[in-house]
Amino acid sequence: MVGYPAAAAAAWGFGGGFPVRGADIVDVLLSAADLAAGIDRLAAAVRQEFGPRPLTVVGVLTGGLVLVSDLIRRLEGPVQVSMVWASSYRGTATAPGTLEIRLDLLPDLAGQEVLLVDDIFDTGRTLAALVRELRRRGAARVRSLVLLRKAGRAEVAMQPDFVGFDIPDAFVVGYGLDFDGAWRHLPYLAALDSADIAAARAGQRSHDAEPAPQADPAGLSRA
Ligand code: IMP
Ligand code: MG
Repeated sequence: MVGYPAAAAAAWGFGGGFPVRGADIVDVLLSAADLAAGIDRLAAAVRQEFGPRPLTVVGVLTGGLVLVSDLIRRLEGPVQVSMVWASSYRGTATAPGTLEIRLDLLPDLAGQEVLLVDDIFDTGRTLAALVRELRRRGAARVRSLVLLRKAGRAEVAMQPDFVGFDIPDAFVVGYGLDFDGAWRHLPYLAALDSADIAAARAGQRSHDAEPAPQADPAGLSRA
């Protein structure tokens, strides 16, 4: 199916037909109110861990953008904010993803207390690589926080220190998360129809040399 998700179309008063290659929203997993309550809990847990000491929040673009913005406004005490960029692509169901990371906006982290903030812990490769890199830069303490953790997908030994919500293994969009660049701006979190994801992949396969993954509903487009 191609078109603006019906739930979003209703919420925003559109008639549908937004011109992006897309997939239908099958389920609103977390409403805006659910998300707000989860971020309240996360902010309280972070302050309990770090106390009143100055904290450097390092957000991961692009998916972590909305979460960082909401989280920092709930953190009392001194906070500085910086962003890094990470993106991973999976060529086939069996090949490991290629992770690309850009860290050039980071301040000097030597001796800093750092909170790394990303949208979702899927395989965990992004978070594990970034934690390693922040430690290498001399941070005194590095903790990691994600809004979402997908069930049964971890490929690394580490787990995030703070998790907002555990969700089932579905492809989700909204609140910063995208499908092919679309739907980051939805104020809620929605699951996409896996048949539509598969169809979008089949379309991609016709002009890509590599076969699209069949058994990896979260592997199409990440940033
Ligand atoms: P990981 O390295 O496999 O943990 O991938 C994490 C990144 O993949 C996240 O920061 C997201 O950008 C992206 N990602 C993983 N699952 C989804 C999803 O369901 N929807 C949108 N993006 C996702
Ligand atoms: Mg990301």
